[in-house]
Amino acid sequence: MAKLFAVGAGLTALAACTPDGGTQPPSSSSPSGTSASAAPTAASSSAGPETSTAAATEPGTVAAPAPATTSAPTPTSPAAGLAKQYSLTDPASPWLVVNKHRPLSPADYVPADLVQPNVALAVSGEAAQLNSTTAAAAEQMFAAAAQDGVTMTLASGYRSYGTQVATYNSYVASRGQAEADTASARPGFSEHQTGWAFDIGDGGGACSFQPCFAEQPAAVWAKANGHRFGFVVRYPWMFHGITGYYYESWHLRYIGVEAATDMTARGINTLEEYFGLEAAPGYL
Ligand code: DAL
Ligand code: ZN
Repeated sequence: MAKLFAVGAGLTALAACTPDGGTQPPSSSSPSGTSASAAPTAASSSAGPETSTAAATEPGTVAAPAPATTSAPTPTSPAAGLAKQYSLTDPASPWLVVNKHRPLSPADYVPADLVQPNVALAVSGEAAQLNSTTAAAAEQMFAAAAQDGVTMTLASGYRSYGTQVATYNSYVASRGQAEADTASARPGFSEHQTGWAFDIGDGGGACSFQPCFAEQPAAVWAKANGHRFGFVVRYPWMFHGITGYYYESWHLRYIGVEAATDMTARGINTLEEYFGLEAAPGYL
């Protein structure tokens, strides 16, 4: 454990989701190593049934972009068929969808039940925490991976609003805002602030937060098995036109076993598609 922590802590300093803004280009690579071609803001994708609604304005005023506030899966979406439904807007809901069109509300939300999971840690402090449901699921998943001979580490979990301010600003300082927005959420727009998401590392320590992480045992295992524990890879390869972010093979999101298994069985790659929400390639 101590060794894992030391290795992970060093690598985390280079992480895409961590305060120094990382050193890797934001473009992702496929398992074969080819690069993504289009920036999220330039990518096109078909919008789902949901469309954002412009706020009514007085003559002469400028309309502020209205946040997408759909609070339940659209009736025709795949998720609408599940027996148990959850809110898409409540940050304490496992089906919360936060993306570039759907900020957290409140922006400074703090989960009430943050705990440190009993898993191999590559970080300490705040970032080693998750909400209690996600922590329990992570413990089960990490243990199952270990039984298959795969060592997984928790590389970055909860991030407060304030931490995300520092993380995002560091990205902007090192890469400029356009590139920063392809890899790091703006404060109030990150799943990490909810405790429902975390980044994994591989026990071997290789390729943390880099495109080549997709080929590491932890990433391969998580992609194939995460749904059994309620997790999906939130930012899959080549779906940046919908999610707004390049491939993050390390970023797992808890949505519950039933939904994750159903989404995987249907071959649906993004939460936006599964819940019938519009694509969110860029900020409104
Ligand atoms: N890297 C993900 C998008 C985040 O900052 O939440
Ligand atoms: Zn992440």
